[in-house]
Amino acid sequence: MQKLRVVADWCRVGRIWLDTNRGTLEKLLLRWLLQRNLSLTMVPVIDPCSFSSSARCTTKHLNLMLHVDFESHVIRGKVALTVEMLEDKCSSLTLDTKDLQISKVAANGQEAKFALGAKHSFNGTPLEISLPFELSRGQHVIVEVTYETSPRASALQWLTPAQTAGKKHPYLFSQCQATHCRSMIPCQDTPMVKHTYYAQVSVPKELVAVMGAVGDGQEPDPQDSSRTIYRFRQAVPIPSYLIAIVVGVLESRDIGPRSKVWSEKELVDQAAYEFAETESMLKTAEDLVGPYVWGQYDIVVLPPSFPYGGMENPCLTYATPTLLAGDRSLSGVIAHEIAHSWTGNLVTTKSWEHFWLNEGHTVYLERMIARALESEQYRQFKAIGGWKELQDTVNLFGQSNPLTNLVPSLKEVDTDAAFSFVPYEKGFAFLYHLEELVGGPEVFMGFVKSYIQLYAYSSVSTEEWKNYLFTYFKDKVDILKKVDWDGWMNTPGMPPVTNQYDNTLADVCIALCNRWVEAKEEDLASFSDADVKALSSPQLTEFLALLLHQNPLPLSHVKRMQEVYNLNSIKNCEIRFRWLHLCVRARWEEAVPLAFQMATEQGRLKYTRPLFRELYNFEKYRQEAVNMFLQHRAAMHPVTAALVARDLKVEQSHK
Ligand code: BES
Ligand code: ZN
Repeated sequence: MQKLRVVADWCRVGRIWLDTNRGTLEKLLLRWLLQRNLSLTMVPVIDPCSFSSSARCTTKHLNLMLHVDFESHVIRGKVALTVEMLEDKCSSLTLDTKDLQISKVAANGQEAKFALGAKHSFNGTPLEISLPFELSRGQHVIVEVTYETSPRASALQWLTPAQTAGKKHPYLFSQCQATHCRSMIPCQDTPMVKHTYYAQVSVPKELVAVMGAVGDGQEPDPQDSSRTIYRFRQAVPIPSYLIAIVVGVLESRDIGPRSKVWSEKELVDQAAYEFAETESMLKTAEDLVGPYVWGQYDIVVLPPSFPYGGMENPCLTYATPTLLAGDRSLSGVIAHEIAHSWTGNLVTTKSWEHFWLNEGHTVYLERMIARALESEQYRQFKAIGGWKELQDTVNLFGQSNPLTNLVPSLKEVDTDAAFSFVPYEKGFAFLYHLEELVGGPEVFMGFVKSYIQLYAYSSVSTEEWKNYLFTYFKDKVDILKKVDWDGWMNTPGMPPVTNQYDNTLADVCIALCNRWVEAKEEDLASFSDADVKALSSPQLTEFLALLLHQNPLPLSHVKRMQEVYNLNSIKNCEIRFRWLHLCVRARWEEAVPLAFQMATEQGRLKYTRPLFRELYNFEKYRQEAVNMFLQHRAAMHPVTAALVARDLKVEQSHK
């Protein structure tokens, strides 16, 4: 009791500390006490997407030796996990694996018995390890696993030389989020476990390896003179989903005091131009939420099959080459990935059910960066676009689909199939709603910054986030109690409250959209290129997004639109995607080849899936859509291939 009272007292002063500067030890103690107190009555989180025994033990460090074999499309690996026991009398532990061949397990150098359990269709196979001794709480053991990946590992895409820009050498990249790390490394593949790592990667010497970590030199492989070993160190504890590796003929250019951009040489100058604002975005983010702790912030531009716009791998953001449009208006993706350096990478969701903590806060921060570098009106404009994405998602999933909950249950759910804009945009809308309730952006940012400082280097659940919100705003508890928590967090469909955003920048888009929707055949002559001359790229994007919300336009209208706006010539992928989507929806056959081209020449899920779906819905081209997919499937990223197969109702291939 006495102890509890002390804790409570410390917590009261804790708030004050968060905004001031005291000694490091004192800070750590306060943080520990405050975190403890906030989680005093909480139910422990269980990750339904992982088999690993994270209640019994937790990984502190990985030491990786990876041999990348481009002939057999296999990584031969040895990983030493430093594992801390959380319970007494521990003599076994479970790791996640997926399609791995395990040849040997040792514990503190002694051979250990192991067995692979039953294979789950998407969560992989548990690796049960029996330790040859018993450990008690607080003790560490080094578990060394020797293994090989499958050529079909879901985290890896192996590209042939023909699939690269240079056409001469093969290429490999990993994408571990959400649950694919286990197909590359046997590990506790749950975001509630965080560890540092050190890696040595052997690759053919004409290739370069980079990882989401800080480089620690390179040397010839002593075992094979045709190979080089690259070394990396990640000294900040990270969840397994942030481990990342890229191998190819990569070059780099400096784009700031702590930033380089990496890509094949064909793209590197264009990439340096496109991402020139990186340092100013990093500084803006630091002003908002505190120091950037990862040292380096590099960007690697991946091949077009990379399934996402960006991926926040620590020290090395991945970016899709579809961002290289030459008009720099797509930098929102980089602002987003930079924001993850705090929300997601420093403060991490405890499980994929609380994924909105990562993405919702990141979208919120991304838009705060836009607010600082651009304007409040621009933030409002982005929020309007986001609300519409949310509506589209809710329509696509169905308004009573439990996957449209902010905090969905993921028991027996494939995280890739559950992925949508909901955690991003319902998350953002929720935070914006709270922002308005507590007194505006500055006040709410005070909370966000303090939440980040308190939970830095750890993982959180929605309950912990909510408890701290109530602690931080202890003077506004009455207001917070009126929030429809259940409606926001545990109810499918659109949110219980519709935010009102400022329409200043969206008005021209709405007006132009209405003109097209209402236009009769005889009005078509009134449109001219002057309509769009003054629109920025984001406004043109928004105009098309609004049209996609309406009934399909008549064929005459899309044809006229091409005549006057020449949208076919636009490279900006956000515009091009919506334009082609609109054309196929209007059943304009001339656009079909262009849509197929966009769907297959790049593999960003955000574009490829809707384009394939729309082409499939065009009765006359349904079979061609299926054929086109089958023809490209072998060259597609494994995740994209699996999702498009589902969408087009095509049988899964192998596996
Ligand atoms: N972390 C995500 C990408 C991701 C999410 C990969 C879940 C695998 C599973 C990344 O930060 C992201 O959200 N990217 C967006 C950027 C956009 C919201 C600006 C994307 O890919 O489009
Ligand atoms: Zn994100």
